[in-house]
Amino acid sequence: MAFGFGQKNVGIDLGTSNTLVFLEGSGIVINEPSFVAKDTATGELMAVGSAAQRMFEKNPPTISVIRPLRKGVISDLDASIGLLKYFLSVAYNNRLGRPTAIIGVPSGVTEVERRAVKQAAISAGVRDAYIVDETIAAAVGAGLPVYDAPGCMVVDLGAGTVDIATISLGKANASRSTTFAGDAMNEAIKDMVLQRYNFRISEGDAQILKEEIGSADVKASKQLGSVTVKGIDLISGLPAQRDVTAEDVALAIASPVSHVLTAIQSTLEESLPELVSDIIDRGITLTGGGANLRYLDRVIADTVHVPVFVAPDPQEAVAKGLGEMLRSSQLQFK
Ligand SMILES: Nc1ncnc2c1ncn2[C@@H]1O[C@H](COP(=O)(O)OP(=O)(O)OP(=O)(O)O)[C@@H](O)[C@H]1O
Ligand SMILES: [Mg+2]
Repeated sequence: MAFGFGQKNVGIDLGTSNTLVFLEGSGIVINEPSFVAKDTATGELMAVGSAAQRMFEKNPPTISVIRPLRKGVISDLDASIGLLKYFLSVAYNNRLGRPTAIIGVPSGVTEVERRAVKQAAISAGVRDAYIVDETIAAAVGAGLPVYDAPGCMVVDLGAGTVDIATISLGKANASRSTTFAGDAMNEAIKDMVLQRYNFRISEGDAQILKEEIGSADVKASKQLGSVTVKGIDLISGLPAQRDVTAEDVALAIASPVSHVLTAIQSTLEESLPELVSDIIDRGITLTGGGANLRYLDRVIADTVHVPVFVAPDPQEAVAKGLGEMLRSSQLQFK
C-alpha cells in the first residue's frame, strides 16, 4: 500500500452524527459532531463541529447549519469537504502534508457513495484514501479476533445506520445495514411527544430524552422516571415545559429497536452454521454510540439467545479500529 512517506497517516470515521480522526502515533485527536455552518448568501464556512452544532435549530436565516451526512452517506459533498478540511487542519496543527487516509463506510453503500467519500477526502487534502467496511473496523476496534477463522459478530449502532456483520478471516460472511438507527429514534421520540403531549420539541431535545432516559425495555423503563423538556404547546401556541416519561420514550423507540432485532436475526440466519456456532460461544459485540442505549444488550441477548457485550468506549470503536489497521496494515483495500 502506498502510504505517505515521513507523514503520519490518518484514520477517519466520517459519521452521520460524529466525525473522529485517528492520527498515526497519537490516537484519536478529533471527536466532534458532524455539523457545518455556512453563510447562506456567500456559502462561506463559518463554523465546524461543536461550534456549528451549537447554532443548529437556532440559526438566523443568514446562516445555514448542515449535517453533511444522512443515513451514513454523504448528502452534501461541499460541506463534507469543508468539514474534513477543517478537522484535518486541526489534527495536523495546520501542517497537513499529503497523508494517506483510511475511511470506514457502512457495508450497504453503493459504489457511487464510496467514490464520493474518497473524493471528499482527496479534495480535503489527503494524497489517497482507502475505503474500508465500517463493521470490520468496529470489530477490530472492539478488540475482536477479526482475522482468525472462528466467527465473531459485531453490531455498530450509529446515528444514520445500524451495521451488522458476522466476520471470519477478516471478511464479512453475512451483513445487514438498516436505517432504523439513532436519528430514526430521535424522530420517533419527537413524533410521540407531538402526538401524545400536543407538544413540539427540537430534534436535539428528542436526542437528549433518548440518551438520558431512553431504553430498549418498556417494562424496565418505568423505574427511569422522567425528564423536563422545553417546547411549544400546540393548544395554546405558547412556549412551555413538559415532563416526558421514560416509558413513553421506550414505547416511541420500540419500533426501531425491533427492526434492529430482526436485522440481527436475519444476519445470523444468513451466516454459515459453523460461524454461528462460534458466535454462540463468543457472543455479539455492540459498538457505536447507540450501544449505550439502556438494556439493549439484554434485550438482544434475550431475543437471539446469544451473549451480548458492549465494547469499551463503543462510540470510538470504528476510529480505534482504523488506527489499528493503519498500524498493522492488515487491510483488504478495495
Ligand atoms: N446513552 C445513549 N443512549 C442511546 N443512544 C445514544 C446514547 N449515547 C449516544 N447515543 C446515540 O449514538 C448515536 C451516535 O453514535 P455514533 O457517533 O457511533 O454515530 P455515527 O458514527 O456518527 O453514525 P453512523 O455510523 O450511522 O454514520 C447518536 O444517535 C446518539 O444519540
Ligand atoms: Mg459510525
